Amino acid sequence: MVEHNAPTATREAYDAAASTYAQLFRDSLRDSPLDRAALGVFAEAVSAHGGGQVADLGCGPGHITAYLNELGLAAFGVDVSPAMIELARQACPDLRFDVGSMAALDITDGELGGVLSRWSIIHTPPQDVPAVLAEFHRVLAPGGHLLIGFSASEGPSCPTQIFDHAVAPAYRWWPDHLAGLLRTAGLAEVARMVREPQPTDRRQFREVHLLARKV
Ligand SMILES: C[S@@+](CC[C@H](N)C(=O)[O-])C[C@H]1O[C@@H](n2cnc3c(N)ncnc32)[C@H](O)[C@@H]1O
Repeated sequence: MVEHNAPTATREAYDAAASTYAQLFRDSLRDSPLDRAALGVFAEAVSAHGGGQVADLGCGPGHITAYLNELGLAAFGVDVSPAMIELARQACPDLRFDVGSMAALDITDGELGGVLSRWSIIHTPPQDVPAVLAEFHRVLAPGGHLLIGFSASEGPSCPTQIFDHAVAPAYRWWPDHLAGLLRTAGLAEVARMVREPQPTDRRQFREVHLLARKV
């Protein structure tokens, strides 16, 4: 079954692509002021509500986890790909990185002040995403914040849309549809940022950051 094999396939694909991915994206924030802004707002929201531990779920080579720490958060990374986690540990030996799946986190209920999922739910088949959002809700403390980054689908008539991601099968989401699933999971939208595609972008997709709070 595709659904059953999806996490394994994703792990194997990212294990194979890890060092290339790290080279391509490790410095990507430098040229992305809007991404830095979204992460900055997230960091301020978490800090304003008491801080606490923050999990970067699907952290890849750890560059965003490191940036969250630079912003003053106590952030650690989790990724299903052992090769990604190895690269993250090499790049940031002082930070914590764990191999694990965001569908079944080894984290106590209500332990976290924040969860970041940046282009990581894109690889979860849409029918499995509600369970992942429920897991985000479970590990967040009341009032804790989630920042979720993803690419937008073409329009409301395409609530989800598969696309040919270079590493593993991936899905775009219509932002209102994902916001509705977040609401159902007990995560109320606080704000969203939508970046229009630029002529130099490899893919002509809108990029979305949704900030939500556990109610
Ligand atoms: C497109 S990369 C994004 C990496 C990083 N978040 C960033 O913003 O550059 C997707 C990452 O999510 C990880 N991933 C995908 N599904 C996952 C899951 N179910 N649990 C944990 N990590 C997952 C992949 O291994 C990969 O490292």
